[in-house]
Amino acid sequence: MTRADTPTGPPPWRLLLGYVRPHRWALLAGAVLSLVTGATGLLLPLVARELIDDLSHDRAIASALLLMTALVVANATLGAIGSYVLRRTAESVVLGARRALSSYLLRLRVAAVDRSEPGDLMARITSDTTLLREVTTDSLVGLGTGGLTLVATVVMMGLVDPVLLGVTMAVVFGAGTVLGVIVPRINRASRQAQDAVGAMGASLERVLGALRTVKASGAEHREERTLHAAAEESWRQSVRAAKWSAAAGNTAGLAMQIAFITVLAVGGARVATGAIDIGTLVAFLLYVFYLMSPIQSVVGAITQYQAGAAALGRIQEALRLPAEPRSPAAALPADDAEPAALAFADVRFRYADDLPYVHHGVTFAVPPRGMTAFVGPSGAGKTTVFSLIERFYDPESGTITLDGRDLADWDLPRLRSAIGYVEQDAPVLSGSLRDNLLLGNAETDEDTITRVVKTTRLDGLVARLPDGLDTLVGHRGTKLSGGERQRVAIARALLRRPRLLLLDEATSQLDAVNEAALRDTVADVARTTTVLVVAHRLSTVTMADRIVVMDAGRVRAVGTHRELVTADPLYAELAATQFLATAD
Ligand SMILES: Nc1ncnc2c1ncn2[C@@H]1O[C@H](COP(=O)(O)OP(=O)(O)OP(=O)(O)O)[C@@H](O)[C@H]1O
Ligand SMILES: [Mg+2]
Repeated sequence: MTRADTPTGPPPWRLLLGYVRPHRWALLAGAVLSLVTGATGLLLPLVARELIDDLSHDRAIASALLLMTALVVANATLGAIGSYVLRRTAESVVLGARRALSSYLLRLRVAAVDRSEPGDLMARITSDTTLLREVTTDSLVGLGTGGLTLVATVVMMGLVDPVLLGVTMAVVFGAGTVLGVIVPRINRASRQAQDAVGAMGASLERVLGALRTVKASGAEHREERTLHAAAEESWRQSVRAAKWSAAAGNTAGLAMQIAFITVLAVGGARVATGAIDIGTLVAFLLYVFYLMSPIQSVVGAITQYQAGAAALGRIQEALRLPAEPRSPAAALPADDAEPAALAFADVRFRYADDLPYVHHGVTFAVPPRGMTAFVGPSGAGKTTVFSLIERFYDPESGTITLDGRDLADWDLPRLRSAIGYVEQDAPVLSGSLRDNLLLGNAETDEDTITRVVKTTRLDGLVARLPDGLDTLVGHRGTKLSGGERQRVAIARALLRRPRLLLLDEATSQLDAVNEAALRDTVADVARTTTVLVVAHRLSTVTMADRIVVMDAGRVRAVGTHRELVTADPLYAELAATQFLATAD
């Protein structure tokens, strides 16, 4: 996902305001506290002028000293509370963004995920949102309070001596021009640094997702280079951003030093000519000194905002990926729910506009109940049939109907709640065995679990495991064998009490005993449910009520094993080669 291939959305500051809006009162409270803190600081020079005045006229200074102490204490206390409130608000803004992004990512269309790198999406949720924290506190508040303090200070300076204010402003405007050149460079560098963090996330995910393969292929060094390259790129760009930020900060600092010296020189001359008195010069110099902090915070706000805008841009890109509509979770079918009828009519489908068609007009019908097997050479489009039924993708033309109703007219959660899907590579999520079994139906009672564990022949495994069902299975279930993962996936699908069971048989994961047992289970399920199975075994096809033979995105024949062996040459060949290998 790059900047080039996505349309531009609202400007980053609008987006930022959207995240900040729910917390505006807290933010305002923090900002007001910061302002009051600044105001207590602003009063100090005035009191100082009083003090010098009192001293030079031999008056008592106790009250002035007391007032100064009170101001200093108030300044420190209010400052601390203010910064706490602001930090807390900033964390809430980050939380808001993370929640919004995570909910959105879970609803992403499968096609959108196909096109993006999960690791990069992950970096957008974790790393980019973190940058919002600084933008909220430093940028928004810095700009607000710093700006107001700046204005207030300038007004006070104007009241004290307009001539010296003119001198100061001339210097400040000079610095502003330089900053105008520097700031866009910070933005570019920050964006590239965050993109590199995303690239690193993507590489990391790639390596950790297939660490065994990487090791077995001896590819550690190559992968290491890719990871390091991304890390170094992020470093390079961050250093570039740091360089420009430092330049910006220093320009501001330098401008203030120059202003200080100039004011000292011009002010000294004015004292000498009697235009102002020494107390006024001291007060003005103190204001110049006080100008430093709001100017630093305004410049900091602007530079910080550049990094934040880059992150906001990346977050916005993720939020523009196509997602499924948000709708409440649907209830699972009741125990006695009717099995579903399914039909494909002239379905044409390709995974993306620039990819060849995978389905060239697929047509078949499956009545309620019974078992339908899909067979065909690798790449024929069998798994794709299942992906279309689950509406992970939508067909380009043609219709798919469930219970006579077009899939497009089904409420998505309702549609999926009717289906139990066992994927070809039987993914298992990290967590406990129980988490995995109950993933699709958290409300299952213990008896049902026990029964399904038994029918899927997981009971032996559960008895063997140290913590039974609560044993952790490791990342992607690496602590389970391939066949065990397959059976966990089947058990998980059965526990959803599906009206339509989709079973994408793995080519060779189950041993003969377990296979026979599962065959009986599936045959049992098929009596009350519609079962669709992508079959790679003779035992499965001989048991099926009908077989759909697919080849290169078309249905070429439908029939029983006995019929097809004589009627369809491709099927006869498959039966003789592929299926025979599994027939023992
Ligand atoms: N997510 C995807 N994006 C793009 N192309 C895909 C995607 N998934 C599958 N394909 C392509 O679609 C075609 C059909 O794939 P499908 O998974 O449906 O085959 P299959 O019949 O299940 O094969 P097998 O028996 O090997 O599992 C293949 O050529 C594959 O390369
Ligand atoms: Mg497949």
